[in-house]
Amino acid sequence: MTTESPAGYSYDEDLAPSPVSTQKLSHLLSDVMWTEADAAALRRAGEILRPQVSAILDVWYDFISSTPHLAAVFAGSDGEPDATYLDRVRARFEQWVLDLCTRNFDERWLAYQEEIALRHHTEKKNTTDDVSSPATHVPMSDMLALVVPVTLTIRDFLATGESDPEQVEAMQQAWFKAVTVSVVLWARPYAGELW
Ligand code: HEM
Repeated sequence: MTTESPAGYSYDEDLAPSPVSTQKLSHLLSDVMWTEADAAALRRAGEILRPQVSAILDVWYDFISSTPHLAAVFAGSDGEPDATYLDRVRARFEQWVLDLCTRNFDERWLAYQEEIALRHHTEKKNTTDDVSSPATHVPMSDMLALVVPVTLTIRDFLATGESDPEQVEAMQQAWFKAVTVSVVLWARPYAGELW
């Protein structure tokens, strides 16, 4: 974790409680077959990924920048990708990689997942970085589908710190489960009553 918090990062500040209860979170963790072994594997993954977060974000940002409908979500008022917006979000995204691996899945974690959800949704997108983007929200469809690149591309980074393929597999599975639960929580404001 960086010593200075990224701009706009508010995990440790006053957060509105999530409308999602810890009981519902435990149901979601059951849904993805979460176990204590996953919790340990994810902590270990965090140690391996920490020194590589910048390189990981290089890969993800290359993918977003080279995919026009994804890049468009980062457009500024002139319709072109807004470099400052991209940079500020990137710093929080790096922090998220570490948070996902190290934070306890408690009420505060749930509250920040709701905050991230709203920052993708019309409710709060563009407000944290004060951008006037024509993109009012991140489409839920793209948000859900990005679970695939975010999960597949992490494997090579995990493998740089662990030679046993079974351990790499265990860490990737824990990562996949944790990312899935996160994105399910981020879908909440989009899905309304039926979530
Ligand atoms: C698995 C899928 C995704 C993950 C893990 C992810 C992760 C994140 C994280 C960690 C943040 C920063 C949260 C914070 O402020 O602390 C963020 C913000 C953002 N993401 Fe995503 N994201 C995903 C899908 C997408 C997609 C598909 C797009 C479309 C290009 C996107 C565009 C954005 C934008 C524009 C912001 C800034 C929103 C704002 O505050 O104005 N994200 N994302």
